[in-house]
Amino acid sequence: MKIVIIVLAMATVAWAQLPSPCITPLEMTFRANQYNHEDDIFNRYFIAYDAINKRQAIFEEENVIIPGRQFHEFLILNNENVMYDYNLKTKTCTKSIPRPWRNFAIPPNATFENEFSIGGPSEMVYAQEWSDRIPFRQREMWLGVFSLKDCYPIREVVIANSNITQTITTNFYDIVQGITNPDDFIPPTECLNAEWAKPSRYFY
Ligand SMILES: *[C@@H]1O[C@H](CO)[C@@H](O)[C@H](O)[C@H]1NC(C)=O
Ligand SMILES: *[C@@H]1O[C@H](CO)[C@@H](O)[C@H](O)[C@H]1NC(C)=O
Repeated sequence: MKIVIIVLAMATVAWAQLPSPCITPLEMTFRANQYNHEDDIFNRYFIAYDAINKRQAIFEEENVIIPGRQFHEFLILNNENVMYDYNLKTKTCTKSIPRPWRNFAIPPNATFENEFSIGGPSEMVYAQEWSDRIPFRQREMWLGVFSLKDCYPIREVVIANSNITQTITTNFYDIVQGITNPDDFIPPTECLNAEWAKPSRYFY
C-alpha cells in the first residue's frame, strides 16, 4: 500500500511538472533556411508571417552565386485560397492553390519532448522541444523547438502527408516581432493576371 502511494505521488509530481505549450507570436518577420528533402535543396528565405490574416510573403534570398538560378517571391494568401509564385528575374507570375494554413506554433495537445539550452556558456537560449508523437502509438510527423521565454520558433521538422519524402526542415533566425513592411503582402502587378500553374516550390 505504501509503495502504491509513493508511486502515485511520484507520478503526480511528474505529471504536475510537465509544461504546457507556449503561444507563438501571431505576427513575425524573420529569415529562415529550409531544407526540402523532396527536392534535396536548401533555400534561404526572408519571410513576413501573419497568422491573423493567414498570409505569408516568402522572398528567396541569395546566399551563394549559382549561375542561372531563378529567384522567387511566394505570396501565400490562404483567405483568398491562392499562392502566387513570382519570378523576380523574368517578372512572370503564376498562381496555385496553397496548402491548408498551419501556424508556426505548438499544437495545444502536443507531446513535450525535452527542454535544453542552445549555444554555450554566457550566450545561452533556453528552448523546449515538442512533437505530435503519441507515446507507444504513433511516431512523430512534426517536431518543433521553441524558445522558452517568448515562444519564438527555432527549428521545425514536418513530414507532410505522412510521406517521409515530403519532409521539410526549417531553421528560423533574425526574428522580429510584428510585420515590418505591410506592403510585402501586396501582390506584384504581374500577378493580377496570373495563370494557374504548378508552383515551383511547395510549402507545408
Ligand atoms: C491532437 O489532436 C488531434 C485532433 O484531435 C489528433 O489528431 C492528434 O492525434 C492529437 N495529437 C496528440 C499528440 O495527441
Ligand atoms: C511520397 O511523395 C513522393 C514525392 O512527392 C511521391 O512521389 C510518392 O508517390 C509519395 N508516396 C506515397 C506513398 O504517397
